[in-house]
Order: sequence, then structure tokens, then C-alpha cells
Amino acid sequence: MSNRRKFIKKAALGSIGLSTAYGMAQDLRDEKTQARGKSELIGTKPLIISTWNHGMPANEMAWKYLQEGKSGIEAIEAGVKIPEGDPEVTTVGYGGFPDREGKVTLDACIMDHQSNCGSVSFLQGIKHPISVAKMVMQDTPHVMLSGEGALQFALSKGFVVEDLLTDKAEKAWRKWMEASKYKPVINIENHDTISMLLIDKDGNISGGCTTSGAAWKMHGRVGDSPIIGAGLFLDNEVGAAAATGLGEAVIRTAGSAMVVELMRQGKSPREACKEMVERIYAKHKGHRDMEYLQVGFIALNKNGEYGGYSLRSGFNYAVHDQQGGNRMQDAEFKMAWED
Ligand code: GLY
Repeated sequence: MSNRRKFIKKAALGSIGLSTAYGMAQDLRDEKTQARGKSELIGTKPLIISTWNHGMPANEMAWKYLQEGKSGIEAIEAGVKIPEGDPEVTTVGYGGFPDREGKVTLDACIMDHQSNCGSVSFLQGIKHPISVAKMVMQDTPHVMLSGEGALQFALSKGFVVEDLLTDKAEKAWRKWMEASKYKPVINIENHDTISMLLIDKDGNISGGCTTSGAAWKMHGRVGDSPIIGAGLFLDNEVGAAAATGLGEAVIRTAGSAMVVELMRQGKSPREACKEMVERIYAKHKGHRDMEYLQVGFIALNKNGEYGGYSLRSGFNYAVHDQQGGNRMQDAEFKMAWED
């Protein structure tokens, strides 16, 4: 047999081995879900989960889209557009708290079940960055557009520039300016990044996140939310995860990608989120960010199990399925704020 034929035969056998091992991993995960029974949270498909209480109206809209037969991606976009457009939500889109120069800069990303993804970062003047991210995914050969280039792309697609700094946000910024102490503020008024994950009736997973980032950040700062693998990650064979909280800590540890990998190894969504939070805690012991560090993850897997876990108390997320309707779920946490 020629070397080339030997190589092809070996490669083919190798890939049989791999796919068998992969199939076994899938079976193992299914078995683990069964063995866990009701000890973990499990929903019926379709299932939508979103961070914080602004996830409730977002879930409601995404649910409506799914009921109308729209795709997971369309449902994600429509859902997270609700807090993006709400001037009372000071951590996302219109009404988001500005950076230290008084400019509202937005980050968002979206990902579908075929691992297509799109993202925008440091985008100014556009109310719905999630829609621009979706167009980056669908209409360009790229994954991520940033700053001026993202804005130019948005304008070419018919988006219009709006003033996103509301009176409320400007007043808060001017107050902060009096002392100008930089300290990221997390968990403000029970909202932060909105991250949404869903599994549709056919078992296909999609996700998105959108944020105005940390209040009073340096101009140009980009957080975890537009970074695939940090703020959001999914693998349609396994599940999806998304983050909220201090983006720097999530980027340092490739947070959401790791949660998905932990689920691939057989952990439940809650267990995977917990292990990732523990890892972030261990990596940040003695770090200057520790004083105000908060991170939280939500995750769901292919079997409809879902969960969340945060470093500090106060994190919750909205869950919507047919059986339980739309409701809030408190996440478990490692420690209380005062600890
Ligand atoms: N998690 C949002 C941010 O840090 O920008």
C-alpha cells in the first residue's frame, strides 16, 4: 500500500475513532442528565433564559417571536431590543450610563446554532447594536466590527444616529464627575448586561448579549459582551453560556467558552457555571478588581437543563418555557457582598 493510501486509511480510522468517542460523550451527557433527574433545573423546549429582571420583558418578546414561528436568532434580537430601547435600563443601549467622557458606547454579539456569529464593539449613536451585530453575521465575511467602522457599516444599512444619553444618565454622570473616582459599579438596580440564551422546539440553540458596559469606563474600553467565547458562547451539540458582571474578569478566563466545555464534560449548567465562578475567584485572589468583583453566568444544555451561578449575591435571571411561564430565578452564589 502506498504511503498516501496508508495515510488516508489511518486518517479515516482515526476519524471513526473520534466520532465514536464523540458519540459516547453525547450519550454520557444524556445519561448524566437522566441520572441528575430533578436535582437540577430542567425546562421544556422551547426554553429561554436571560440575565437580570430586564430579562422578563425581553423573554416575553422572544417567546412571542418563537410562537409566531420565527427563528431563534430573530427571537433573540427582538427580545434584547426591549431593554436596549428602554431609557430606564441604565446598563444597556439607550439610557445606558456613559463612559467617563460622557459618551454612551455599546457592545453586542449574537450567535446561531450553526456557530455563525456577529459582533459590534465601541459603537456610538446606534440604539440597537444587537441588530447591527446580526447584520455583521449575516451580511459580511467578518465576525466583529468596532468603533467608527461599525458605525459606518450601521449607517450603510440604514440605521440612524441618535443621542443615547438620557437626562437621567447625564445627571448620574455629572454626579460621578464631582469625585471622578473610577470604580466599576456592578449590580446597579438589579440589571447589567442582558445575555439571552434559547433552545427552540427543534433543539437548536442561539444566544445574544448587549450592554453599555461598565459605567464611567475609560473611553474606548470594551468588555466581555461582544467577545465570542467570553460574554457568550454556544455549541449546538452541547449547550450555551453567557456572562454578566465585570467583563475584564470574564475575558481573562474565557468564561462562557469554558462553561460550555465543562458541560461537554458532563457537568450540569449550574455545576459548570459554579466551577467557572470558582476559577475566576481563585484567579483574582489578591487582584485589585476583587474589592468590587461580581461575575455571573447563565447556561443551558441540549437536554433543557439550565442554571446560573454568581460570585456574589444578588444575581438572578428570567426563565421562560411552556410549563412554567415567564419567571425569575435566583442564582446560587459563592459569597454575600459583605463577605
Ligand atoms: N459585562 C459587561 C461589561 O463588563 O462590559
